[in-house]
Amino acid sequence: MNILILGSGGREHALAWAVMQNPKCDRLIVAPGNAGIAGIAECAALNIGDGGAVVTFAEENAIDFVIIGPEAPLVAGVADRLRAAGLLVFGPDAAAARLEASKSFTKEICDAAGAPTAAYGHFTDAASARAYVEAQGAPIVIKADGLAAGKGVIIAQTTREALAAVDDMFDGAFGAAGAEVVVEEFMDGEEASFFVLCDGENVLPIGTAQDHKRVGEGDTGPNTGGMGAYSPAPVMDDAVVTATLDRIVRPTMAEMARRGSPYQGVLFVGLMIENGAPRLVEYNVRFGDPECQALMMRLGAQALDLMHATAERRLSEMNVNWADDHALTVVLAASGYPGAYEKGSVIRGLDGLPEDSRRMVFHAGTGRDAGQFTAQGGRVLAVTARADTLKEAQATAYGMVDSIDWPEGFCRRDIGWRAL
Ligand code: AMP
Ligand code: GLY
Repeated sequence: MNILILGSGGREHALAWAVMQNPKCDRLIVAPGNAGIAGIAECAALNIGDGGAVVTFAEENAIDFVIIGPEAPLVAGVADRLRAAGLLVFGPDAAAARLEASKSFTKEICDAAGAPTAAYGHFTDAASARAYVEAQGAPIVIKADGLAAGKGVIIAQTTREALAAVDDMFDGAFGAAGAEVVVEEFMDGEEASFFVLCDGENVLPIGTAQDHKRVGEGDTGPNTGGMGAYSPAPVMDDAVVTATLDRIVRPTMAEMARRGSPYQGVLFVGLMIENGAPRLVEYNVRFGDPECQALMMRLGAQALDLMHATAERRLSEMNVNWADDHALTVVLAASGYPGAYEKGSVIRGLDGLPEDSRRMVFHAGTGRDAGQFTAQGGRVLAVTARADTLKEAQATAYGMVDSIDWPEGFCRRDIGWRAL
């Protein structure tokens, strides 16, 4: 099978790494990829938001299967274009990708499906959003309706803060994403990420994880794309998994199918769990980054079979072959991230690190310059280890982190604290 993966982050490096281990993969191209991915697969320059360009590229390279990593091409309808051209694709079409692209759409689906989530109001003008905030009081959560690269959510501790956030959004702080605003009840509890494959009809859970969204140790400081993750998440015990599938995931998938938008791909279910009861925080229509790095390390080669069966609507035939193991990934980011940071600093010590089925440094934002790896993004590396216990995976990952020589980078030293 000739396979094309779209994307350039640590998530796509991990997907490529898993796919390459499967003997069914004859040739792998990652577009655009990054310097780390170039070490294991072919990389090709391509505008992955341009469906026509992706179709042409796939046809020219005799691609049999396309895996779409990030949300932007999904929301832009790249999967629709590929399917219309007769290509096999992993990832939802644009209509189903609204589960990530529009928070009000997701809320409406949850209402129709009876899926537990935060109470909310959906507003297209500041005055009615302000009135709702005044009536509800704080703490309260203000969200830009559209895609805002993880930045469009304000958790307001006071009514004043909430009103200011409403005004900012309607004043254009998040551009078009904030033209509509969702105001939500603040949910208490422990967050977890749950990943399921859906083929339009069948649902197959493929793992749980916990992210570390804040930049600082002890979950302090501003939100980031994610500073580290581990899988499995102990809070997602069997009862919580069953409740999530029965009350949230299956009703949502059935509602999407009923509306003529069956969902195909991976569904990232962001949950808040309080006293064993899961409620939906958000859906994403892709793997999490860095959760994917931990998941792929645990799944290995079977990840390709599972994604392929999803695209061919054969999920009912599949099982996940679970090892009773743990994976943990530590993100190294450029100093200053998630604020302003410099690009171009040299990263040393990567070449000497082991790369096997239990230890991998996935690249998120690297380039290669005169034979040396350089930092070219905010989140730059995801150092990932798998072991029989989480503690061991953590020790191995930080051991690898410590042999990377990159003075301009930093990481959190407490990834895994909640489970340990
Ligand atoms: P989202 O982009 O919807 O995932 O929101 C980003 C983060 O904000 C989530 O991961 C949660 O930590 C937090 N969050 C979002 N909605 C709520 C809510 N209703 N109650 C509490 N925390 C929330
Ligand atoms: N790590 C969170 C996300 O990918 O959205």
